[in-house]
Amino acid sequence: MTYLLALDQGTSSSRSIVFDADGRIVAMAQRELTQHYPQPGWVEHDPIEIWESQLATAREALANAKLETKDIRAIGITNQRETTLVWNRKTGRPVHHAIVWQDRRAEPLCAQLRAEGLADTIRDKTGLVVDAYFSATKLRWLLDNVPGVRAQAEAGELAFGTVDSWLIWQFTAGKVHVTDVTNASRTMLFNVHDNRWDEELLEALRIPAALMPQVQPSSSHFADIDAHLLGGSLPIGGVAGDQQSAMVGQACLKAGMAKNTYGTGCFLLLHTGAEFQPSNNGLLVTSAAQFDATPQYAMEGSVFVGGAVVQWLRDGLKAIPGSAQVQGLAESVPDAGGVMMVPAFTGLGAPYWNAEARGTITGLTRGTTVAHIARAALESIAYQSAALLGAMSRDTLAAGGTPVSELRVDGGASVNDMLMQFQADLLGIPVVRPQVTETTALGAAYLAGLFCGVYKSTAQLASQWQEERRFVPTWSKARSDEAMARWERAVRQATAT
Ligand code: G3P
Repeated sequence: MTYLLALDQGTSSSRSIVFDADGRIVAMAQRELTQHYPQPGWVEHDPIEIWESQLATAREALANAKLETKDIRAIGITNQRETTLVWNRKTGRPVHHAIVWQDRRAEPLCAQLRAEGLADTIRDKTGLVVDAYFSATKLRWLLDNVPGVRAQAEAGELAFGTVDSWLIWQFTAGKVHVTDVTNASRTMLFNVHDNRWDEELLEALRIPAALMPQVQPSSSHFADIDAHLLGGSLPIGGVAGDQQSAMVGQACLKAGMAKNTYGTGCFLLLHTGAEFQPSNNGLLVTSAAQFDATPQYAMEGSVFVGGAVVQWLRDGLKAIPGSAQVQGLAESVPDAGGVMMVPAFTGLGAPYWNAEARGTITGLTRGTTVAHIARAALESIAYQSAALLGAMSRDTLAAGGTPVSELRVDGGASVNDMLMQFQADLLGIPVVRPQVTETTALGAAYLAGLFCGVYKSTAQLASQWQEERRFVPTWSKARSDEAMARWERAVRQATAT
């Protein structure tokens, strides 16, 4: 039997999963990651903890699978994206904690870049909007605020990387400094048209080029890990940011295929093939996983408060004792009784981009119960996702393409049948859940497996993908249009400040 080891370094935990060649989970291991909040709006991780927890889970997963490195063909790495690390090339010591993607400290720098008129150039070259979410301004913050870092960076003594680069550096004891195109495309410094760091942007942001890792296709030979770490050497043959990796795990490998991951937030990505298709509706363009040197693109939109709305029901409103109770409560009523919730707790992202918006609950009557509010909260996850897919469809149609015909789903909340049925009803297209919902890790395993010849082609991956359940829309177009119109009215109330 052939096995692949996927390392999934996420925001809240480090996980490792052993897959067999058919994409079935053989064993896994997981360790939580400490979140550091040094100031309001700041989020950090300890780079050493990232590395040690990841290595520990890799060892545990192999032990749980009762396998050794000689049984494994290759390693794939997938990771939380944008999170920014800088370390010393000689000592390997990080100069600071990792600045996590959720961290907002670089917002003043972004305002400055917008004021300097750089937004259009950045959008054209990188596909991104100027935002503190991406790595570039986090890196610039480190250069400007950590004593000695700029001088050392200019002298070529430091290395920058996203989490994938950091792990590979550690796995090779500092011999290899690389990343893949998907992670590079989240830095706001990468030219996604010609797949290289953009000199003009590096200069405009005052970032020394000597910091930057080498960029490779997502399925390629990144490194061989040091033999002593896992009891033998193994090639790292796949690397991708977690959302792009989930696209591979969902076999969304061709233009027109889309996936939505329902986590704390939701990430919806639509493959657009080799076409850089700019958005007129506030979506990002990002690099999709690449199997060779040819650029591949996706459109991306995210919902800031997805499953987090359930946490709020539990911890803020104290309406449910545990997250597991939400489905039962929501299903105890036939519908939300006219209640609409817009969970704009931290503003609204694509396609609205309104940082000032705040959460609202509309349509309350004397007959409203906590069950209606729970149902409206769950439905808000589907409404926000539908608004994103609607924006993507408008962009696709404007570019002469065909609209998405089904949505593949994964992530924690995708197990909620009521939510998935409601999503299909709103979208008017089937929502399809795969048998293996660990799509992020599976994508990394697939990328590694393609590199080392376990799979002959991406077509083989597509044929391995198996449906677990298909939610077919039951509403008329008029009914879903009316529901979306009510949602948009509620959004207008949430954004009226
Ligand atoms: O862009 C951020 C995303 O990559 C983080 O994903 O699953 O670690 O929260 P996750």
